[in-house]
Amino acid sequence: MENSLFIKACKRQSVERTPVWIMRQAGRYLPEYRAIREKYDFLTMCKTPEIAAEVTIQPIEIIGTDAAILFSDILVIPEAMGMHLEIIESKGPIFRNPIRNAEAVKSLQTAGLFERLQFVMQAIKLVKERLNGKVPLIGFAGSPWTLATYMIEGKGSKNFEIVKSFIYQQPEAAHELLQKLADAVVEYLNAKIQAGCDAVQIFDTWAGILSPADFEEFSLKYIRYICENLQTNGAPVIVFAKGIRYFKRLADLKCDVLSVDWTHELGQVRAEIADRKALQGNLDPTVLFAPREKIKMEVERILRSYGEGSGHIFNLGHGILPNTPVENVKYLVQCLKELSAR
Ligand code: CP3
Repeated sequence: MENSLFIKACKRQSVERTPVWIMRQAGRYLPEYRAIREKYDFLTMCKTPEIAAEVTIQPIEIIGTDAAILFSDILVIPEAMGMHLEIIESKGPIFRNPIRNAEAVKSLQTAGLFERLQFVMQAIKLVKERLNGKVPLIGFAGSPWTLATYMIEGKGSKNFEIVKSFIYQQPEAAHELLQKLADAVVEYLNAKIQAGCDAVQIFDTWAGILSPADFEEFSLKYIRYICENLQTNGAPVIVFAKGIRYFKRLADLKCDVLSVDWTHELGQVRAEIADRKALQGNLDPTVLFAPREKIKMEVERILRSYGEGSGHIFNLGHGILPNTPVENVKYLVQCLKELSAR
């Protein structure tokens, strides 16, 4: 896959046009996804390699993106550690017995994690067979901090009061949990690369809720540990820390790409990090609800902002929303392919 547009752009090699994929591209905005989702619950889809492979490939065929991302969820790791997980339509993920003390951290089952996650590796093998070299496959994991927010809060949150109380009141237990998760993520991503993933992305969706000092202590430290312990065999590593302003600190990570949310100018981030990493992003997902002229304008603006030279992977600044019109997504991809041709 070294010659694919996506992998070349991740490595800042020159490409004939900007590659594009979309965070959460396998999901509810696609009628073909919803048709399968009507028959199975979300976790059954994740755990059935045939189904996971099918929905992974759907956006490649329907939308024409330049990379596939394995259909799964970041929360399969806490589930495999013994936490009971439910994903409820329109409510999101729920852990009915969230972690609230040191004993709960100690009781997480880290031994044998990978036997319990074999369904992921099987799905990767199936996807690679079916893609047959057409586009690369991205594997992913949540950052320890983002995983911990769900494991401690028990569900999505507005103010993150419970998880923040936990790290301030029980810092030792918090660090023990984060380190357990960091070790699990290293092993998990290494296994995904071994199974055939061509690149991996670490999602730190909730990076931006921490102060700069707390971000260093409770999140970045563990992302750094993961990046330093991955055996990539040349597979690019992408780090997405949403809501973060300190790109210089992220540029010191042993990774290849920084994914940028839509509140930044790509050109400014690029200058700030002196071109040390490729950049991914960063269309506001809600622009896909706008008229075509606006979508086109935003694509032009983002391409102009990044500027000349390679090292840009087009994406949204966060996951695509479930009500997004499919025609607009197709238009976006077509527009990007035309406008970025060199
Ligand atoms: O990008 C892709 O297409 C790959 C699949 C993917 C999913 N979740 C599928 C999914 C990826 C990369 C994720 C990552 C993920 N999961 C993150 C980090 C990235 C982000 O978007 O912030 C987080 C925080 C989660 C946890 C999670 N899982 C939430 C908050 C939700 C509910 C959100 C929603 O849209 O309902 C899920 C469920 C989930 N994960 C769905 C999908 C397609 C929707 C499930 C359904 O079909 O009902």
